[in-house]
Amino acid sequence: MDNEKRPKPEKIPTHVAIIMDGNGRWALARGLPRIAGHRAGTENLRRVLEGCGELGIKYLTLYAFSTENWGRPAEEVRGLMSILEDVIDSELEELHQEGVQLRHIGLLDQLEPRLREKVKYAVELTKNNDRLILNIAFNYGGRDEIVHAIRHMIRDGVKAEEVTDELVSRYLFTSGVPDPDLVIRTSGELRISNFLIWQAAYAEWYFTPVYWPDFDKDELRKAVEEYSTRERRYGLVSAQVS
Ligand code: IPE
Ligand code: IPE
Ligand code: MG
Repeated sequence: MDNEKRPKPEKIPTHVAIIMDGNGRWALARGLPRIAGHRAGTENLRRVLEGCGELGIKYLTLYAFSTENWGRPAEEVRGLMSILEDVIDSELEELHQEGVQLRHIGLLDQLEPRLREKVKYAVELTKNNDRLILNIAFNYGGRDEIVHAIRHMIRDGVKAEEVTDELVSRYLFTSGVPDPDLVIRTSGELRISNFLIWQAAYAEWYFTPVYWPDFDKDELRKAVEEYSTRERRYGLVSAQVS
């Protein structure tokens, strides 16, 4: 990447989260079945990961399957499950070699045992890697996550006065991961769709009409460049933060 165009390091988001949307429309536009769009939406992953490395992004969270996506036609749900399995089979070794730590956010219980074990294995294998932390949100829902956290706090006997912002964060699936600085949504939709509803409280948002399978390193760079021009005020006034 051209050094002059590269945003200053302090303006690089530490954590980027992406709502990978538009696979179905990408396929439809080509007269292909929706599942072909989902497959195409895995082919750009490597390029996006490379882009993260080049830009110096440390955490990447990808929204791959929401708790609401179970309501899609059974054939599509099955297809999405087998795509996750194929991606683990074909990419895990290389990701591990490259120092990527894989984490899963969401609940594994509802997945087929074989897929569940593969995800657990991938997480275990890569747990000491630290070049890039890649969180896969699969069977993830922000509300589900908060309900899950509250249940755990109650089971642990947490007292009302002990509940703080930090404690809640520690009970979420993302425990230990800094909040996202930048959330990207592809495909032109302007909504949150139950993604990181707690963690993205002060994230910067970037929307692009590009469908996910067409999102590449260049599109990532554009999003980061746009982010680098934003002023994050966290409720303060400009003079306080600059
Ligand atoms: C995103 O693409 C992938 C998942 C939600 C699993 P979509 O499948 O939502 O694609 P569109 O929005 O129908 O185009
Ligand atoms: C959000 O996309 C979920 C994922 C990208 C995995 P959807 O396509 O499911 O969201 P809605 O239904 O348009 O809000
Ligand atoms: Mg969609």
